[in-house]
Amino acid sequence: MKMAALRLVCASANPDKVTEIAAILDGVVDLLPRPPGVPEVAEDADTLIGNARLKATAICDATGLPAVSDDTGLFVDAIGGAPGIYAARFAGEDATYADNRAKLLRELGDTRNRKASFVSTVMVVWPDGQELAVEGVCEGTIAITELGDRGFGYDPVFVPDDGDGRSFAQMTDAEKNQISHRARALHALLAALRDSEFGGP
Ligand code: IMP
Repeated sequence: MKMAALRLVCASANPDKVTEIAAILDGVVDLLPRPPGVPEVAEDADTLIGNARLKATAICDATGLPAVSDDTGLFVDAIGGAPGIYAARFAGEDATYADNRAKLLRELGDTRNRKASFVSTVMVVWPDGQELAVEGVCEGTIAITELGDRGFGYDPVFVPDDGDGRSFAQMTDAEKNQISHRARALHALLAALRDSEFGGP
């Protein structure tokens, strides 16, 4: 079976993530948008894979189709791995991206060890309960101040090791999608699908 025959519903409700997921999966699998009207899922598991499973299962159950989800954490060495899986709520329940970045820069202050990694778990859940999970990691450092205004979330403060010293927010979408945690996870997903019974090229 060709992988183009595989239809996946995108389980992410975050438009910033959907753009990145679509840029990599579109044309390779048949990616359907998250149906409107399905309530946002409470991400109350204590692991990335647990939250990815909650999101994909909710959309799979609502549509009867296999669903693909992403859950991402930012792990900063000098503050014990925080914000970790709580990256979206680092500065509080209703925190904006800017609030979260400001809190991270404040907590790090002028700490010299600014090592950090983004980790994305991407998961597909099928209606019969089968699931496939993969991970993508991007190592980097947290900048001293915000750099650039593209991207989303922590992009203005994250400088990937595999880049040229620019933050994700100073890169084009295509440049970020070459090296990001999410892109790496999605490419791992495509490879795993090719090798699996679920259909590949
Ligand atoms: P979640 O996977 O929806 O729980 O994402 C957690 C949070 O991590 C998001 O709200 C963003 O603030 C941040 N985040 C996730 N992916 C990225 C990324 O690619 N760049 C910057 N921030 C990200």
